[in-house]
Formats: sequence, C-alpha cells, structure tokens
Amino acid sequence: MKVLLVGGGAREHIIAESLYKNGASIIVAMNNSNPGILKLSGRDNMLACPETNVSDIAKWACNKKADFAIIGLEAPLGVGISDELENVGIPTVGPRKEPAKIEMSKLFARSLMKRHNIPGQIEYFATNDISALNDHIIDSDGELVLKPIGLTDGKGVKVMGDHLLSKEDAIEYGRTITEESIGGFHEVLIEEKLYGEEFVIQCFVDGVHVVPMPTVKDYKRAHEGNKGPNTGGMGSYSQADGLLPFLSKEEYQNSVDIIEQVVLALKDEGYEYKGILYGQFMLTNKGIKVIEFNSRFGDPECMNVLSLLKTNFVDVCRDIINGTLGKTQIEFAKKSTVCKYIVPKGYGETPLENEEMCVDKGRIEELGAKIYFAKVNKSEKGLLTTTSRSIGIVGIGGTIEEAEEIAEKSIAFISGEFSIRHDIGKTELINSEIRNIHNLKLASENIPVASIS
Ligand code: AMP
Ligand code: GLY
Repeated sequence: MKVLLVGGGAREHIIAESLYKNGASIIVAMNNSNPGILKLSGRDNMLACPETNVSDIAKWACNKKADFAIIGLEAPLGVGISDELENVGIPTVGPRKEPAKIEMSKLFARSLMKRHNIPGQIEYFATNDISALNDHIIDSDGELVLKPIGLTDGKGVKVMGDHLLSKEDAIEYGRTITEESIGGFHEVLIEEKLYGEEFVIQCFVDGVHVVPMPTVKDYKRAHEGNKGPNTGGMGSYSQADGLLPFLSKEEYQNSVDIIEQVVLALKDEGYEYKGILYGQFMLTNKGIKVIEFNSRFGDPECMNVLSLLKTNFVDVCRDIINGTLGKTQIEFAKKSTVCKYIVPKGYGETPLENEEMCVDKGRIEELGAKIYFAKVNKSEKGLLTTTSRSIGIVGIGGTIEEAEEIAEKSIAFISGEFSIRHDIGKTELINSEIRNIHNLKLASENIPVASIS
C-alpha cells in the first residue's frame, strides 16, 4: 500500500509513522525537509514544493502510483487538492474543496449551523461595510471578537479585553480588515465573546459515519499562564478516559452530536465530507458553544490521539475512503498524553532561525516519550530551527501527571536555544481550568463564587 502524505510538520510525522508501522510505504510532498518523515519515506520519495501546488502533486503521485492520499494541513484542502487527486484516481483522506469550506470560511460554518438549527451557535454578524461595522460595535453591549472570514492561521483573530482594549481599537481593527484586508480577506466576522474553557474533539468521518477520538486541550498562547500572542499551538493534553478534568461525559457527547449534525447538514446540502473533522468548542455557563471547525487533524492535537490509536491506521483510512467506518471498531489506549512543543526562542514574535539543536532520541524513547520533528532542517551536527515550531515531545502515562513528567524529563536530552511552555499538563494549570468551570457554573446559578474558592 503506497500512501501520499501532504505536509511536513510534526502532525505529518506522526501520520507517516502511524501508516508506516502498519506496513504502508510513504511518499511525501512538503515544502521543507522534515528529517523524521524523510527517514520513513526515503529522499527519492519526496517532492519538494509548496503544498498548494496541487496539480504538480497530483501528477507526481499518479506517476508514483499512490494507492491513496492523506492531507495533513489545511491550505491544500482549501485549493482543492482532494478534487485534483481524486480526478487522477487517487482516493483521499481529506474533504474536497466545497465541504472544506467548513474551515476555509468561518462565515460558511456559522451560517450552515444556523440554516440547520445545530446547537452550539453564537451571535455573529459579517460585513465588509465599514459603517455597518462601526454601528454594530458601537451598539453592542458586551465584548466582541473580530476575525477575517477566511484562513489566517488563527493569527487574524482579535478578542476584546485581550487584544482589543476598547471599542475604538475594535473599530480600527475592523477598518484594517475591510479596507486593507488581512490574509486577502476584506470581510470581517464579528462574534460575541465567549467565556469558559476551550477543548477539541477530532473525528474520523466517511461521509456518513462519525467516529470521535479522545478530547484534547490545546494551548495557543506563546507564554506560560496563557499569556502572549496566539500561535499554532504550544502543546496539549488528553486524559485516559477520553474526557478532560473539566469536561463531563454528557458534555463530550453533546459536542460529538454537534459534529454529527454538521456532517449531516453538509450531506443535506450535497457535500460528502470524508476525512478528519475537528471541532473546537468552548464550555460556557450556557453549555457547549462552537468556536470553529477545522478540516484536518490539529497540530499538536494529532500527536495526542494518534499516539493512542490501537486500530491499524491504514485500515481506518481505507474505511474513511470506502464509507465503511460504521463496520469498524476503532480503539484508543486508555492512557493520558501530554505534548509539549519545543519552539525557537522568540516564537510568536521574532523567532530565532538557523539555531543548532541536538536531540538524543534514544534517551528520550527510553523514558517512554516520543518525539516528532516539525519545521526543522537537518544540519551537520543535528537540526536547524526555522521560524516555525521545532519538535513535539509526547509523554504517555496512566495519568496526566505521569505523562507530563515523562515529557518534561525528555527536555534534558535536547540541547540548544529554545522555548517551551513548562506549565502545559501541570496540575496547577489544570486546577485553574477546573476552578474556572466550577465558578462559571456557580455564577450561572447565582451562587457567590467567593464561597467556593
Ligand atoms: P480561531 O482561529 O477561530 O480558532 O480563534 C483563535 C482563538 O481565538 C480561539 O482559540 C479562541 O481562544 C479565541 N476565540 C475565537 N473566537 C472566540 C469567541 N467567539 N469568543 C472567545 N474567544 C474566541
Ligand atoms: N492547534 C490548532 C490547530 O491545529 O488548528
């Protein structure tokens, strides 16, 4: 079984490993030289190109006789890589261009939920008209969130009270989007600001059946204590029972129901969704609310779930393609995971490029941790940093605490200049999340918060 993988980050490294260990041979299209993926594919089986060069990738994969493809990142899905590959006879794990709009257009996602009356909706307003935008902001009672309607790697989202300190700041940011554009988008989505704790549920989807994976808590802020700019993600954790310390079974099930309803709504509108559907939610005092959907695995969230997958991943991909997920029992190990990203110093602001890094992979694996290479290049002595994330470390244990300790001990075997969020997976941060939800729930029942803190 020959599989085309598109993308060269740590998410794609674990995807490659999960396929390879189940007997697949890997060919890869990526715009960097991920040393971990290259070790599995071999250099002859790599096409170096931007991952959005979809017709070149399709031609190359066709010549290489790929049996199927899996797309790691969103940009090629947005420009129709799955359509292109399927047109040359390569079935693909990843939605076609139309259903991928669930990620590519935040407005499409919100309006689909509205059209189909799907739970988890929030107040929103979209416009490219500056005076309508000003009126909306001036008239609003609560805090707002402003987003360009399309893909900006999460970096276009600005939250009042956080990045925007007044209505004037919000109006100015809205003006920047509508008049100057951000990421090529002139339309701005204004949302009510949600308060609570975020979590992620990723599902395998074959067009009809939806198979949820363990919940993951992801941390986007660059600095400890959830401070600093938003990034692609600094780390994440999952709990052995598939829930989170602040998330109940019922809340998990309600969130999965939302994803199921989205897949049905897409089907109803004529779009078959095949691939991974990622739901990002916020648990609030008014229940589960949707922040957004992604059309692929999260990075780092992919490392939390695939490191627990017990079922053959090649078979899971085949079931997604064939529409047979309903017949397969997909199993995850009942373990906790903590993923911490090693990033270049200054990541999120002014990252230090071309810094040497050395990794003692053997010693890290002896500890029971796994490492996945992200956007690093190979150098004579070891690795060289780029401006993106460098290495994902995954600790696996019975409890989150054990998994965190394993991940943290691994850091001693990585040398060089780097940053990491030591607080991810630590009891103190997790307790603050439990407290936050506890206080929100009490506040919604009008019980004084001071009495329980
Ligand atoms: P997104 O790119 O939509 O995932 O947004 C990036 C981050 O912005 C999310 O992880 C949230 O922390 C924050 N965010 C987005 N939308 C909202 C919202 N409506 N209320 C509060 N925070 C939000
Ligand atoms: N970690 C967030 C994402 O992959 O979109």
